Amino acid sequence: MNHCINSTDFSIDKIKNLIKLTENIIDNPQKYSELCKGKQLATLFFEPSTRTRLSFTSAMLSLGGQVIGFDDAQSTSASKGETLADTVRVISNYADIIAIRHPKEGSALVASQYGDIPVINAGDGSHSHPTQTLTDLFTIYKELGRLDNLIIGLCGDLKYGRTVYSLINVMKKFKNIHFVLIPVKGLELQKYILEDLRDCENISFSNAESIIETIDKLDVLYMTRIQKERFTNDTEYNECKDKFILNAEKMKLAKSNMIVLHPLPRVDEININVDNDPRAVYFRQAGNGKYIRMALILTLLESFEKDKNKQKLKEDYNITNYKCSNAVCISNNEPVDLLSYFSKDKSHCAYCDNLLE
Ligand code: CP
Repeated sequence: MNHCINSTDFSIDKIKNLIKLTENIIDNPQKYSELCKGKQLATLFFEPSTRTRLSFTSAMLSLGGQVIGFDDAQSTSASKGETLADTVRVISNYADIIAIRHPKEGSALVASQYGDIPVINAGDGSHSHPTQTLTDLFTIYKELGRLDNLIIGLCGDLKYGRTVYSLINVMKKFKNIHFVLIPVKGLELQKYILEDLRDCENISFSNAESIIETIDKLDVLYMTRIQKERFTNDTEYNECKDKFILNAEKMKLAKSNMIVLHPLPRVDEININVDNDPRAVYFRQAGNGKYIRMALILTLLESFEKDKNKQKLKEDYNITNYKCSNAVCISNNEPVDLLSYFSKDKSHCAYCDNLLE
């Protein structure tokens, strides 16, 4: 494994190994406290973050390594017009591993093409957030003891929520998964994701119009915030906010062992009267993020093969003439090769996964 770009990068074996390593790190922190001595993590955060950036920082420091980076694009030479490719080319001389968050979809894939060090996607626009997904998987496994045979409710902003897309993608690898989609009207799953779900053998799905309608059947309720920063105007956002709110009253209808996940930050979609319910695991989930990121940093530093990096990218993707129709795809914002891949006879943009039609 060279990079962590999408949640599809993890096979079931890799996920199991990462979970095992994470458990070991939690049980024996001392054993791991100097394994990254002399190594540097660069955190390139072109968008705001609390959990992801600080848990990466805490993870690297707890491994005995050091951290460099920035948390504001305006303080970097990107504000003077430097491309992401050039930024990453330069930073790969200063660090051993990169964690990048960027508003453009596919930015982490671009970073992996131009740097000579492992790249971890810490969130690229509305597209993907694979380390959140690892955190979610670890939390589900720790709380429920399994990653198969689950009924998972996805509630809120299913259009712009990158954690939702990443979770759906990884759950395709597990058995007997049923998703109940509870989107705010206008924020339904994007067309290409729905089509992909329909084609998927391991996953079934249904729709619900409210939390109350379905909460009694769920093993996991995955709440999400309306992603205000992805809207182009306030009116559209105001029409979507405050539609689904989980509260203690609704929790009375849920199974005694159902768990509530949320990638956080929350705005008001979970009332604070849910926080002390033992089934509300979102703060434990955020805590787990540090340890799974420690496991990921160790795994990538060990497995990265510099010589094979560019070759692997060539094997995975084709250079295409199609222009991606997604305005926030990095391929429409920076001078990069137009890369595609085929899945079920359909051509997809390699950066944002949209169908090339
Ligand atoms: N879950 C998550 O990505 O949180 P931050 O935006 O605070 O990093």
